[in-house]
Amino acid sequence: MDKTDPVEELYREEIMDHYQNPRNFGKIRDADVSYQDYNPVCGDEITMQLKMENGTVKEAMFTGKGCAISQAAASMLTEEIGGKSAKGIVAMKQDEMLKIIRINPGPVRIKCAMLALRAVQKGIVQYEANRVREAK
Ligand code: FES
Repeated sequence: MDKTDPVEELYREEIMDHYQNPRNFGKIRDADVSYQDYNPVCGDEITMQLKMENGTVKEAMFTGKGCAISQAAASMLTEEIGGKSAKGIVAMKQDEMLKIIRINPGPVRIKCAMLALRAVQKGIVQYEANRVREAK
């Protein structure tokens, strides 16, 4: 008997679609925020880049290599954060990321799902710190 939940199945297909056809994949030439992070367990990596305007995200792109969940999560996140404030992104928690990817990756793969968000958050914090330093 097939026990696959059709909604869960749809979400998994969405993950595979983003993995195979990543949105906003590439580099921003004059990015304000650029941060590469990796999962030390497997070595998978993500570089998140942002172009900012008045404290909000004007453009978001990523590059990386790794498992389907890490790459799809990065792709989905770039679609989600356009127009969002830097503060709002830094404040995003794990449950918000899980709402974006719409699957529960389980305890082992949660790091895969969080890699892109952590990278963009670290990048924004670094960018803001540089701005404060430059303003002095
Ligand atoms: Fe490496 Fe998913 S297995 S980030």
